[in-house]
Amino acid sequence: MPCSKIIATEQQLEEIVSRLAGEISSDLLHPDHCLAIVALEGAQTFATDLLEKLDCSIETKYIKAASYRQTHSTGKVTIQKDNMLIQKICGRDILLIDDIYDTGLTLCELLKWIDSCQPKSIRTCVLLEKQIEHIQNIRIDYLGMKVEDNFVVGYGLDFDGQFRNLPYLGILSEEILSRYNVSDNF
Ligand code: IMP
Ligand code: MG
Repeated sequence: MPCSKIIATEQQLEEIVSRLAGEISSDLLHPDHCLAIVALEGAQTFATDLLEKLDCSIETKYIKAASYRQTHSTGKVTIQKDNMLIQKICGRDILLIDDIYDTGLTLCELLKWIDSCQPKSIRTCVLLEKQIEHIQNIRIDYLGMKVEDNFVVGYGLDFDGQFRNLPYLGILSEEILSRYNVSDNF
């Protein structure tokens, strides 16, 4: 097993996602005005399950954001901005969906960019929040669960593109980290 500890089983993840879908569904007064924006690539699995469980149909778009190299934030966030998306966002109620709130840099940049496209409102839905001192403090409207400060994989979250397809969420084992020779100094 690539993980030293499982932090959420497949069944626990299903319960979390169902709870979040219920909260979002009951807040969605005008689903037609809402646009879900999914931050790729880590949030794809979570967002697919979440959106499927909403009790209304909701327009969905994807945006690619990256800041991580192996297990560390580079501190620089790259967002692939899409001009078509700018027009879609203007005047809409946005639901931004991401996998994990770690330093907060990615969410902060995404929110800044979305805000510059003049939406009517923005809400955030995030599966995990790392219990660390975030660099950027972000308001999370719908949160799945808090996790300790470990590198987690599975359910869409990856380590260099690997382990996304694990059906559970777990802490990546030291053995795998050392095999990939992950250094603290990059
Ligand atoms: P932040 O900008 O540091 O908040 O990190 C945001 C992005 O980094 C997340 O959306 C993830 O894609 C990735 N990330 C942060 N922590 C982890 C982790 O523990 N496992 C896998 N990906 C992570
Ligand atoms: Mg991400």
